[in-house]
Amino acid sequence: MSTTWRLLPQLLLPLLLILFQLQTTEAIWFPWYFHRYGFEAHSHGATTKVLPSGKAEKTTPISKSSNAGSATCPPGYQLKERTPATCPPGYQLKSKSAACPSESRLCDDNPLVMQLARLYVVSPERIVLLLAQPMLMEACEEISDVVDHIRSATSNCFISDDNIYGKLADGLKYYKEEVCDGGADSSSSNKKRCASLNEAHSCLKELRTDMIECEAPADWYEQRNATKVCQTFNDVLDCYYTRGAMLCGLEAARHLRSFAGDSMKRSMIHACDVNRRLPRVMDPMPVITAASTNSLNVLLASSFVSLHIIDIFI
Ligand SMILES: *[C@@H]1O[C@H](CO)[C@@H](O)[C@H](O)[C@H]1NC(C)=O
Repeated sequence: MSTTWRLLPQLLLPLLLILFQLQTTEAIWFPWYFHRYGFEAHSHGATTKVLPSGKAEKTTPISKSSNAGSATCPPGYQLKERTPATCPPGYQLKSKSAACPSESRLCDDNPLVMQLARLYVVSPERIVLLLAQPMLMEACEEISDVVDHIRSATSNCFISDDNIYGKLADGLKYYKEEVCDGGADSSSSNKKRCASLNEAHSCLKELRTDMIECEAPADWYEQRNATKVCQTFNDVLDCYYTRGAMLCGLEAARHLRSFAGDSMKRSMIHACDVNRRLPRVMDPMPVITAASTNSLNVLLASSFVSLHIIDIFI
């Protein structure tokens, strides 16, 4: 019932327009139309008043044979011209069978820009920077909302492959899957990376300024020279790794670099490979102090670390 009432304002205007334009003989698809949206005509003379179904007086049987054309667009509508504008509002969103053609329509990317702006996502690096938000899980709620809005804004149109906002949206979706949703659908190594990034969050927060300093000049990823772009891409990754290792330890740095590589790759038009060689860090932070400054935690952490040291030597 709630969807019916939410759709009501959208439906009334086109219905009224159609009622005025069509003679009753042309209105044979009305029962189908009403039925589809939870409305019912009292008789097949389509000019009668309508009531929401399930309310009262649900007596008239629906004529199924009235729908001679496709099952997704009212007959007559589709025949005029095959553009999305000929379908009733809200129609394409519901039906996946592409009888109302949408495959040829480019998305307006303004809604994407607006949504990405909510999170200050203006570059591939800014998606990685979300790891340094003060509250990781609260940020995830907002990220999830942004991803939902982008999905509905692009559900009946397509974004070209070279649209940078589309790419940034892909990168953000990856962040949601891998950081917020725990790498749920991916390999166990990604799950481990997600756990590690969450564990290191108290330190990654402190890394925020360093991460901003690692960012490349504006629009670097939009350059035409792929060699140059990919060089910069790897410079940024190595910077994350080096700064991360100095502040949060090698393990957190490795996962930060790995995640940054995967998410930035998805946020860019050029396809870049991550260098296999890790940069050398002279004085990485030992794991113990990175874990916490709280004395009890340090105590716990030190016993944990000594176990790890044993691990290493075995
Ligand atoms: C791209 O950049 C690289 C390195 O900066 C340079 O050697 C190469 O000539 C450039 N390629 C083109 C097509 O400009």
